[in-house]
Amino acid sequence: MTTPTTNDSPGIFGGPVDAGRLLAYWDGMAASYKPGAKTGLVRFSSGRQHAAALRLSGAGKGDRVLDAGAGCGLLTRKLVRRGCNVTALDASPAMVEGLREMAASAIHGRLEELDLEGRFDQVMAIGVLNFVTDPADVMRRLCRHVAPGGVLVLQVTEWSAFGFGYWLNYAARGLRPYLFSRAWLTRLAASEGLVPMGHERPLPHDLTIGFRRPTEGNQIS
Ligand SMILES: C[S@@+](CC[C@H](N)C(=O)[O-])C[C@H]1O[C@@H](n2cnc3c(N)ncnc32)[C@H](O)[C@@H]1O
Repeated sequence: MTTPTTNDSPGIFGGPVDAGRLLAYWDGMAASYKPGAKTGLVRFSSGRQHAAALRLSGAGKGDRVLDAGAGCGLLTRKLVRRGCNVTALDASPAMVEGLREMAASAIHGRLEELDLEGRFDQVMAIGVLNFVTDPADVMRRLCRHVAPGGVLVLQVTEWSAFGFGYWLNYAARGLRPYLFSRAWLTRLAASEGLVPMGHERPLPHDLTIGFRRPTEGNQIS
């Protein structure tokens, strides 16, 4: 079993992620993530994950939203339909192609280098933190893009018996995603000034969790 590469254990398991291998994997998956694709499993699981993420975020008309690790835009499209102004970013060139048609801004980039101008009312990172090379650093970058009063919504696979089953499925293909505990995520968010605002489990191995950045004058000391 691999030792976590971050210095923030316990509460994180798996890795290290081989970035090149994972990118090739996600490029190959792009057809399954296109809105309208007939792949039942992606449609079923992402439908549940996105419903939970939208409930927690409360994203609505006029909100500035960052969809981080947006894939082909399954969630981006739902946010745009709600009237949000969406910046969508993904590391896979094949995935980003689909984003250009729907997001206000589509960016080809890695979350490990996330450093955008401006801050967002909602930062959504759905199904991506498990696959980055340094989850603690990416978590901090995501938090720093949340405006005062804004929210961060993450969907990750949890460090649990169900999560381990999910991990084995990837490990069989030579991929090593990270798994997380709620406590680890909460600690990282707190180190960047964000407070928990609820969570759901849309699938047995999945955790969708929201954090809020208090408005100025209402900071938690
Ligand atoms: C499980 S898919 C989720 C896609 C989308 N969030 C959704 O809910 O439909 C994971 C996505 O994360 C992207 N990804 C993986 N590692 C990344 C990284 N380091 N930086 C940015 N995107 C990444 C992949 O290319 C893929 O599109």
